[in-house]
Formats: sequence, C-alpha cells, structure tokens
Amino acid sequence: MGNGLYTGEMNLIKNKYSDFASHLLAWYDGCSCNFPWRDCKDPYKIYLSEVMLQQTQVSTVLPYYQKWIQKYPTIQSVANATQEQILKQWEGLGYYGRARNFHKSCKIILDNMGGIISSNPEEFSKLPGVGPYISAAVMSIAFQHPLPAVDANAIRIGARMEMVDLPYPKNLKIISNYFDNHIPIERPGDFNQAIMDLGRKICSADKPKCRVCPISINCKALVNNSVDKYPIKVKRAKKPHYNIAAGIIWNKGQILISKRRENGLLGGLWEFPGGKIEKGENAQTCIIREVKEELGVLVQPTSFLKQIKHAYTHFSITMDAYHCDYLQGTPQAIGCDNWKWITPEEIRLLPFPKANHKLFDKIIVSESIC
Ligand code: ADE
Repeated sequence: MGNGLYTGEMNLIKNKYSDFASHLLAWYDGCSCNFPWRDCKDPYKIYLSEVMLQQTQVSTVLPYYQKWIQKYPTIQSVANATQEQILKQWEGLGYYGRARNFHKSCKIILDNMGGIISSNPEEFSKLPGVGPYISAAVMSIAFQHPLPAVDANAIRIGARMEMVDLPYPKNLKIISNYFDNHIPIERPGDFNQAIMDLGRKICSADKPKCRVCPISINCKALVNNSVDKYPIKVKRAKKPHYNIAAGIIWNKGQILISKRRENGLLGGLWEFPGGKIEKGENAQTCIIREVKEELGVLVQPTSFLKQIKHAYTHFSITMDAYHCDYLQGTPQAIGCDNWKWITPEEIRLLPFPKANHKLFDKIIVSESIC
C-alpha cells in the first residue's frame, strides 16, 4: 500500500466501525468473560495465556494459568527456571513443544531484549513458537495492532459469515482478509477476543445458537440456511492406536527412567523405558529389546503391573507395564536424551506423560510391599 497502514486501518479510515464490528463489540461489552488474563495489560501474561490457549479449552487452561502465574509471575522467573521445572508445571496440558518454546522465548527476551516483549509484530514473530495466530493475538491485545487472530473459532465464524466454499487451510486467506477488513483500529484486541468468545459461546461447531447471535444479520450461511455446511469439512484420518510396553526397572529400591528426545512427541518428559510392541513380540520381549536399544541395559520382566489405556489428542495407547529386574550394563542415553535412577517418591517431582501417571500409585504401593 505504500502508506504504512494496515488494511484494517485503511478500512477504518474509509468506513469507521463496520456494522459487523459494532454489533460484535456491543455484545462483547455486555457479556465479556472475566478471564484473569483480561484483567491486565501485561504482555507477559497475555503471551502466556495465548500459548496455553492454543488448541486447548479455556476451562482446561484456567487452573494451569493461575498456578503458573503464582510460580512464575515474570519473564525473568521463567527464563531462570530449568526446562524440567517448566515441563513439570505444564504437565498434563499437552503439546509440550509450546512449553519448551515459551521457555526459550523468555530466555531470549531476557538475554537479548532487556526483558521486554517487543511491541513490533515482526520482532515478536521471530521468537520460538510464535506463529501468525499467537503474534496477532498478543500484538492486538497487548499493543493494539489491528491484526486479526485467526484460530479455529475465527475460521468457523468467517467461513459461515462469508460462505467460504474451501476447506482449511485453503480457506485461511479469504477468512483472514475478511477479518482484516473489519478489525477496528481502536479495539483490535477486544475484537479478536470477542470472536474467540463468540466461537465458544454462540457460533459453536455443533448446535450454533444463531437466534441469539449478535452478528447473525451479516451471516451469509444463516441467510442461506446452510450454517451446518460451514466450514467445509474434509475427512480426517482415524486416530492411530499403539500397543506399547513399559518396564519399571528396579535396582536396590530405585527405578531407572529415561528422558524422551526433546523434539519428538511428549519431548523432554521422563518415562518408564519401553516402546511399541512389534510383530512377533509380546510385552515382555518388547521391553527387553527396547531397554537394550534405548539404554544399553539388560533387564528381565518379572511380574505384570497394570494395563493402561489412554487417549492423547492425536493417538491412543494401550500400555502394558511390567516390573523388571535390572540385570547388567551401565545405562547410556542411546535412544533417549538422558536417564537416571530415582526413588519411587521422586516420581511425582518430575514431568511424565499422563499415561505414566496412572501407574504411580501402584508403583509406590509395590515398593512398600517389596
Ligand atoms: N482463546 C484463545 N485466546 C483467548 C483469549 N484471549 N480469551 C479467551 N479465549 C481464548
């Protein structure tokens, strides 16, 4: 455009608030939710909340957010924590890459940016894990940049408003442009948060409440009686299911645990060594092979502990856990990032995947029986 203005700014100069934005904001003002990250304009808290809220429901995030702010009230406190402490605090919230990236970002902000979150969208977007959504959300809410934050809620609303006949991600450009044309320069953060609230409370995926929708008058899908059709859906591949086996490897009252590779699934978390049961194996032979491959240690499964079934977001598992005797070999981090011997009481101090938690009580009981 050459005049340094965003499309949203241009639109506003031409058009002031669009009907759509005025109705949406009037509704937001009447019933906006009192979330703790909305109490303040602290960019750190806003950044943290957006990272936690990415792909996660508000009700799940709320207790994590509250506990986090008590323990880590500032960028500096996060930057000075270890990755293990950060993952422990995040434990159970899932998508652990978010926590690792947030930790790295806080270190960069402290070390290279004087501890201040940049209000420049380009600078902010260079931080680890900061994609277009997080950038637009934080920059609009904390610094009033008129950038539309397009998450799943916004996509659903935009696809319905404009009857966008393309599936995600092909619909992203049209929907972003649509919001770009309506986001008001005076209240871009409120506009984005109003869209998030509307998507959660009214324009939901199932059973949208169109009769009480403040922007129904602008909704092309509603006018055409085809709200159910949007956003255009593509068939998702079925969630994979894995059968896995894990060993609780005992030696002199201690248990051998390994740390998952940082960049993989559940990266950086500790676990009981094991892995996927391969063709021709049973759980016991799988444990013997996996522990040898991962840690270079020979073990002997002795007794069955428990079967766990757990559904993660993108896959589900059945895990057979066995007590094992340590036989020989010095552990080495061959197929993992680290290893250590711990007492059963220490289990709860370290970050583990959720499925492993279902074994904790039984492990502690077995120790007292042994
Ligand atoms: N989802 C993502 N960001 C949000 C926010 N700031 N408020 C409520 N829900 C959200």
